[in-house]
Amino acid sequence: MTPIENTEDRYGAVAILLHWLMAFLVIGLLALGIYMVTLPDVGFNTKKITLILYHKELGLLVLVLLAVRLGWRLTNVLPQLVAHLPDWQKIAARFVHLSFYALMFVLPMTGWLMSSAAGIPVSFFGFFTLPDFLPRDDHLFQRLIDVHKWLAYVLVLVIFVHVGAALRHHFVFKDDTLRKMLP
Ligand code: HEM
Ligand code: HEM
Repeated sequence: MTPIENTEDRYGAVAILLHWLMAFLVIGLLALGIYMVTLPDVGFNTKKITLILYHKELGLLVLVLLAVRLGWRLTNVLPQLVAHLPDWQKIAARFVHLSFYALMFVLPMTGWLMSSAAGIPVSFFGFFTLPDFLPRDDHLFQRLIDVHKWLAYVLVLVIFVHVGAALRHHFVFKDDTLRKMLP
């Protein structure tokens, strides 16, 4: 049985659930984001508008889950990286993990700010509307789209490095790296 909490040697059930749920969600949001912007703007394209609305709600869900995850991470032991890693790889691995946390925060935030600048307030799952921190400004809206897009591309790059490293540890070094994150 996987323990609920982390131990020195492995991630616990809560951390594992949050890791895989958010991994699927984030990869899905990247695919959805890249696809939805290719749809034409002409006329009243309801498919594009519907997909953007889903993208916003799921993007906010990342922000909510991130708060839960950070709370859990700060109150749990952090499993050690596998032994015998050179120092630079330990630093690189932790750096990649911290980059993920930073990106999972700034991507939804730039999405939210972008919507404020566009003059389209973001609904919080239909319960209430989030406050607009920026006034309507079309120039700023275009700049924020660029920032959101480039942050997303950086995220794709970091995911490739992370997944590549995880698979290499599992299949080439045959160590416990991936098993620590599996039930
Ligand atoms: C982890 C969360 C998120 C990820 C990974 C993500 C990713 C992306 C990607 C890849 C695109 C396509 C960029 C392009 O090629 O132009 C995009 C577009 C967009 N995102 Fe997000 N996003 C996230 C969260 C959010 C949130 C929370 C909002 C708003 C509340 C949002 C609003 C938008 C909008 C409005 C667009 C379309 C921009 C346009 O009109 O070109 N995103 N997002
Ligand atoms: C889909 C393929 C993925 C695989 C196979 C994978 C695998 C792993 C493994 C094995 C670890 C534990 C590393 C260690 O402690 O030595 C880990 C940690 C982590 N992964 Fe992933 N991952 C994947 C996707 C993602 C994605 C898409 C994200 C970001 C959205 C992500 C974010 C993280 C974070 C933040 C940690 C560090 C957890 C902590 O210690 O706080 N992973 N991953």
